[in-house]
Parts: sequence; structure tokens; C-alpha cells
Amino acid sequence: MPAYIYPFITYSFSSKNKMVARARGETVIQCLSLFLVIHFLVASANFFKPFNVTYDHRALIIDGHRRMLISGGIHYPRATPEMWPDLISKSKEGGVDVIQTYVFWNGHEPIRGQYFFEGRYDIVKFVKLVGANGLYLHLRIGPYVCAEWNFGGFPVWLRDIPGIVFRTDNAPFKEEMQRFVKRIVDLMREEMLFSWQGGPIIMLQIENEYGDIEHSFGPGGKEYVKWAARMALGLGAGVPWVMCRQTDAPENIIDACNAYYCDGFKPNSQKKPMLWTEDWDGWFATWGGSLPHRPVEDLAFAVARFFERGGSFQNYYMYFGGTNFGRTAGGPFYITSYDYDAPIDEYGLLSEPKWGHLKDLHATIKLCEPALVAADSPQYIKLGSKQEAHVYRIDSHTDGLNSTWHESQSGCSAFLANIDECKAATLRFLGQSYTLPPWSVSILPDCRNAVFNTAKVTAQTSIKSVELALSYLSNVSSLQQFMAQNEGSNMQTSWVTIKEPISVWSENNFTVEGILEHLNVTKDQSDYLWYFTRIYVSDEDIAFWEENKVRPAVTIDSIRDVFRVFINGQLAGSVIGRWDKVMQPVQFQKGYNDLVLLSQTVGLQNYGAFLEREGAGFKGQTKLTGFKDGDIDLSNLLWTYQVGLQGEYLKIYGQGNNEMVEWTDLTHDDIPSTFTWYKTYFDAPAGADPVALDLGSMGKGQAWVNGHHIGRYWTLVAPEDGCQRNCDYRGAYSSGKCTTNCGKPTQTWYHIPRSWLQESHNLLVIFEETGGNPLDISVKLRSAHVICAHVSENHYPPLQKWVRSDFIDGKISVKDMTPEMQLQCQDGHIISSIEFASYGTPQGSCQKFSRGNCHALNSLSVVAKACQGTNKCNVAISNAVFGGDPCRGIVKTLAVEARCVSSTKVGFSQY
Ligand code: GAL
Repeated sequence: MPAYIYPFITYSFSSKNKMVARARGETVIQCLSLFLVIHFLVASANFFKPFNVTYDHRALIIDGHRRMLISGGIHYPRATPEMWPDLISKSKEGGVDVIQTYVFWNGHEPIRGQYFFEGRYDIVKFVKLVGANGLYLHLRIGPYVCAEWNFGGFPVWLRDIPGIVFRTDNAPFKEEMQRFVKRIVDLMREEMLFSWQGGPIIMLQIENEYGDIEHSFGPGGKEYVKWAARMALGLGAGVPWVMCRQTDAPENIIDACNAYYCDGFKPNSQKKPMLWTEDWDGWFATWGGSLPHRPVEDLAFAVARFFERGGSFQNYYMYFGGTNFGRTAGGPFYITSYDYDAPIDEYGLLSEPKWGHLKDLHATIKLCEPALVAADSPQYIKLGSKQEAHVYRIDSHTDGLNSTWHESQSGCSAFLANIDECKAATLRFLGQSYTLPPWSVSILPDCRNAVFNTAKVTAQTSIKSVELALSYLSNVSSLQQFMAQNEGSNMQTSWVTIKEPISVWSENNFTVEGILEHLNVTKDQSDYLWYFTRIYVSDEDIAFWEENKVRPAVTIDSIRDVFRVFINGQLAGSVIGRWDKVMQPVQFQKGYNDLVLLSQTVGLQNYGAFLEREGAGFKGQTKLTGFKDGDIDLSNLLWTYQVGLQGEYLKIYGQGNNEMVEWTDLTHDDIPSTFTWYKTYFDAPAGADPVALDLGSMGKGQAWVNGHHIGRYWTLVAPEDGCQRNCDYRGAYSSGKCTTNCGKPTQTWYHIPRSWLQESHNLLVIFEETGGNPLDISVKLRSAHVICAHVSENHYPPLQKWVRSDFIDGKISVKDMTPEMQLQCQDGHIISSIEFASYGTPQGSCQKFSRGNCHALNSLSVVAKACQGTNKCNVAISNAVFGGDPCRGIVKTLAVEARCVSSTKVGFSQY
């Protein structure tokens, strides 16, 4: 934010634009203040001419007009403020009208009463950017948000409020919830961010999928819903509120659908429109799990079916998923990446063909919008046992469908659906015939020309990869670069290391009798909690174990996340996951033995009723079994508690602080080592491509770059089975369908936002628990190196070519237009080479194309001429372009594979 300096007065605008004035000379101050206040108000409020938002049974009504709205979910703290502008503009370009975000309470109020709205939590800046791009915003305040976010967004201190029960008719909870929700609404109002103030916020949300757990609270649940609605409406925000998955949402709150499909959803009142707040376009991943993917053909089918059957607002959850930086991932066990298989990937690159195909769908829906908003409901026409049409007409009273449709086609839009999961269908609709692939919808903006089918993807595919970034290695000879490339690393060879003490490491500990609950002790200030005690072992015990060939064991009723046992400083065993009745055999020496239990969290539970009771770590009885004189109840012993790691406490990952401890040089002999810190420096890779840290050589831990916590890492491997060789888009999707990455670590690359890097000498600090090899860590660049297109004569022409006036005079027909192959490298990259091109009957898919029997000999040169050296190119799917028909009577397809490079690297060969 700018700070304006005047001779008599200094105004500084904090990121919340609160004006702070230190003044001398009152009159001048008053005049200037007035001027600046007006200036400021205009500057912050002129995103839109102020407008009202209401709704009827059909749609949201924006400034007096019903609208069909496409929304994209972006959670601001899952990206950096430097990434926001690009993400928002890529959303806009993808045809999104609204950005949807949750509000993350635990990020904004880390300590009760102390609010934080800076950096990634600068929500005001985020909302303003959305407005500045001409997009609307749906703000889901919750303040329970779920979202695979630590503790579902609740601050952990909330569980310490006496008498609190979350999310029910409980006074202490309601008081805290109301305080926070009011704070956010007030902030938005002060910043002029509501639509009626000229801001982008058109809709809010209170609670989140409470209907799923309401029954757990009995009558208190029902009361709470009513209270939450009353409380929200009472804040005077002036825009509609929704509750999602809340069939008993009160009268003035819109109940909305969250699911993979919402076309059959009916709101709980005929006065409310059909809104879809979460269209799960992918899914999240768990450490040790495979990676979910939702095919775009099915996603587009779901969206088209929704608008076909009366829907009017649809939000992609997520449009950009991003990263769970720091310890924000929920869980337990959610990975650091929140890529979600969203149209914009974790790094801010487009995921193609998802982004492009949805862009086409959005453009099609926009072509239909006048008819969609005009009709109160669609006309339903059954066309077959699994085929149907829904027709929307501007004047449904005067225009008989069978008679004069052609005279008023501009006012008619139709969706034809083939919901057969296996077979294509040829349908007759208004005298014409249409062939639809299985599980697909064709959209006819003028009830005549099908301009889009959900299963026919003309958008390009892009294959993203991470590649070693070598160009930036300063002071390194080409021989060294070559060696680094071979070794797969580009860090400075010098790493230093320091051991993390096992067990108690500071005065900052306390001793009590009994086993305390994990979160009660850590308050989630760290994942780690050490429990230390001493156990005396007699000669008789040893003899007893030897004679009976038994081993003593630490036995615990139930544990969750990660549990480790150390005896005399040595790791005796680890248990991962959520288990009942854990028995960890241990080996004691005669005399006193140090027994250390380490309880670790890997993201706090974010879903379910009674989260405040959930806790973490061990539960139930904790015993030492197998002793001669019987079991030892560990809860009768004195335990010394230590929260966190010494390195965390000393912040040795931070610039400055890292110098305060004595690191030693790392040698090959030191590897692998458990509970160890590592440090090195690296230079930022040249260029603007997103940066990834490859931690595939490591075990489990956390990583920091220049003091920024880039997240937890864990090289836990997904099971070998469960991934399908071919992903079939047909049929209902669920998160287990179309997963990839079986048999591989769930995550090996970790996003380092560019804005966290300086040109050189970036500090990288790693805390490793289980033993990895830091020498193989490398910095990589992520980009879409390969792009492909696969377009045939029976694909539809580009959507950009259609304008509504074409339909209005009815002159244009899809038959007069030619499909096109369109390719574009991302973020200003340039097509350096065409790896494959065939016009004819090419086979296969991207990176596996091969020529068919029919092939135009000049395919490669035609495509290279049009594309090579450019950022984007188009080639018409037409015989004329390829010098004649290579095979008469056969449908021709053009398949192309191209390589994109950053514009600084291009060197071309001539065709
Ligand atoms: C929904 C929830 C979201 C998110 C999603 C799964 O049920 O409302 O916050 O958790 O599931 O990604």
C-alpha cells in the first residue's frame, strides 16, 4: 500500500486501508483528509457501479437481471499475494464470473482477540483484486470451513474456552462465532466491498455442510441452524447468504448443493434458486495415497446437466487448489499439495485440456444465457430411454416449438443429453438429427446448431513436467553443471547439519504425573510432543525376559497420526496411522532406562461433529507390558513434557537465526540420519517458471526457504494397486476412479513461490525425521513442455467464432464453419518444435501419436510453418490447408505434438 507524504501530514494506508493520521496544522489536515477520504473511497469502491443482489426461484438477480454464473474456487492463503493477480486473470480468461473463497479463521485470529490480515491472509487485498478484474466474489465465512484445512479452520484455542461445544446451540461457541463473523462482515463493509457499495461481494455463506452432522446434536442442532441464520442476516451485509448441504436452511437463506453432480438438486423452497457451491472437479490426496483425477468430459457433463435442468450458479471446488503451506493442511494426513486436479494447477499453470474445455463450455453457456434467464423453467422433452432435451425459450407463450421455432430461434436454447454410459445416440430434435457420444450433453444456443458437446474435447492437452534448472548455477563450470545434471542435483554441494535432540531439550519443559492429551499440551504450536520418563529394570526382569523368551512392550489403547518410541536415545519403533491396541516391543538394559514417547500430528482433523473433543495423540490406557511383576501403568509415572523441536523453538530455519547454532559440514558418512536438520543455499533459477523443490530423496519432515515454511513433506508411497490403466470418463465419478501414481510417493515436488526467492543465496533448511539423502535434493522448474491437439472434422468450430448475433438472424450454421486446431504455450513460452503432426487418420494420444493409413505428406511442414516460433497458432481442419484430400470419404483428424520452451531459449531449425 502506498504511503503518501505531505509537508504537514503523513498518511499511511495499512493493507486494510485504515487511515492513520499524524497531523500538524488542523485546517490543512481537515481539507486534505476530506480530499483523501473521498479519493480513497472512490478508489476502493469503484470496481462496479453499486448494485443490488437478490434472487428468485430461477437465479441470482444481479442489478435487476437474472444471471447464469460460473464461479471458481480459489483459497487466498493457498497461494501468495504475488500469485493472486495471475490466478484471477486466468480464471477470468477461463470464463469464470465469480471467485469463491472460504475465510480462514485460524489464519486470521491465531491468538484470541489478535487479528491478522497480512500477507497470504490479506483478504481485503484479495477481494479487491477480484473486483479490480471485474469479477464477483462469493465469500464463505463459515467460520467452520472443513476445506482439508487444519482443524477445519477453527483456531485451536477455541477448544480451551470453558464449556464450549462447537457448532451447536452452545453459548460460548455462538459468542465466538458471532464475534468473528461480524468482524469479517464489518471489515468487508468498511472496505466498501459489498455489491451495493460498488464492491465485488455478491453472496456470503454461513456454516458449511452442517446438515451432514446436524443429527449428532439433537434439538441443539436445529436451534443452532436457526440461530446461525438469524445471526448472519442480522449483520446487515445486504447480499444473500447461503448454507450448503442444509435441507432445513431457514426461509431467507438459500440452501445450496455440494457434490460431484447436482442436476437433480432441489432447494428446500420454490422461492430459492438452484445453486451449486461445490462442484468437486477433482479431489484431495492423502500421504501414502494415489492422486485423484476427474476427467473433464465427465465434469463438463455434470456442469451442462446442471444448467440444463435449471441450475443457475455453479462453482468449481477448486478452480485453483494451491498449496497447504506451513502446517495448514488438515487431516489427518492431507498432503501439502492441494492441487485438487483443478483447472489451474498448484503452481498456477493451466491444466489442459481441463481449463480449455471448460472455457469452451462456459462460452457456450453464455451464448445461451438470454434464453436461460428468460424462461422460468425449461421444457422437458423425452427423446429416448436415456436421452432427453431441455429447452429454454425467451417467449415460451407465443412460440409453439413445432411450428415457428425458426422464426424466433434467437430466443431458444436447448440442451440434448445422452445419459447412456455406454452407447452413443442419434437423436431427432426439432426436425434435425444429432449424434451424441455416451454420457454427454450437446448444447444448441439457437435450438438448431450444436456448438459444443461435453465429450468432444477440442482444447489442447498439456503435459507438465519438472526439469532440473541448471542455467542459474552461479560460478559453476559447464563440467560441474554436467555433473550436477547427472547427479540430479543443483544445490551447492556444501550442506551443513545439526542433530535434533531426542527428548527434552530445554528448561522450557514441565513434569507431572500421568499421560496428558496431546493438543492440551502443544496447543498445536508444533506437530511434536515428547513424553519422557525413566524406567528401572532389575536383574530379575532381564532374567524373566530371557527365560521366557518374551519382550516387554509399550502398549497403548489407541493412537493416531504418528507415534514413536525411543529407548535410551535409540528409536525402538514407529506406528503410523490411526490404530487401536498398539504394542511396540522394546529392549531395556539393566538399571535406569530413558523411555521417550513421541506423539506427532500430521494435520488436525477437519471434518466431523465434536471436533473440540477429538484431540490428538494417545488415548485410553498406556502401559508397559511383559514385566515380571505385571504391567506398569504408565499413567502413574511422572512424565516430563517437551513441546516441539529445539530447532523450531530456536527458529533455525530463519534468516539470521540459523547462524546461531553450530552446524557441522555434512559428509556422505552422515547419511542417512534421523531427527536431523540440514541447511544449504541455492540460487534462484532464471526466468519466471514456477519453482519446485524435489524432496524425493528424503523421508519425512518439514522444509523452509528463506524462513518461509513450504510445508510438511513425506515420501510415503501409494499402494501398487488401485490405479486404472485407462481412465474412462463415462459413468458416475467418485474419487477412486481415474487415480494415478500408484506405487509411487504421493508427493515429491514442493512448490516454492517465486516471491519467496531472491536471486541468489536462498536459505534452505530441512528437518528430516526418518533419514533421507539431502545431497540429492534439487530445485526444478515446472512448465508445460509438451502440448498436443487432436481435432477432427466432426469436432465443433472454435467457440470464440460464435457470437449471439449469428444466431439471432439465423443465417449461420455450424456446417459453414471449420473446426480448428489451436495450440498455445503457457505464460509466454514459444513453440520450439513440432514433434509430430499428421492430418489424416492418426492414432493414439499425446506423446503416443502415430500415423494411420491416411496421412497428408505435408502435415508437418504445414503445422510447423503456422506454429513454430510463435506462442500460439491455429490450423483449420480442412483439406484445402493440406493441399487436397488425402483420403476421400474418411473423416480426417489432425494430431499435433509440439514442444514449448521459454522464449529466451529458442533456436529454430528451418522447415
Ligand atoms: C466438502 C467440504 C469442503 C471440502 C470438500 C472436499 O464436503 O465442504 O470444505 O472439504 O468437501 O474437498
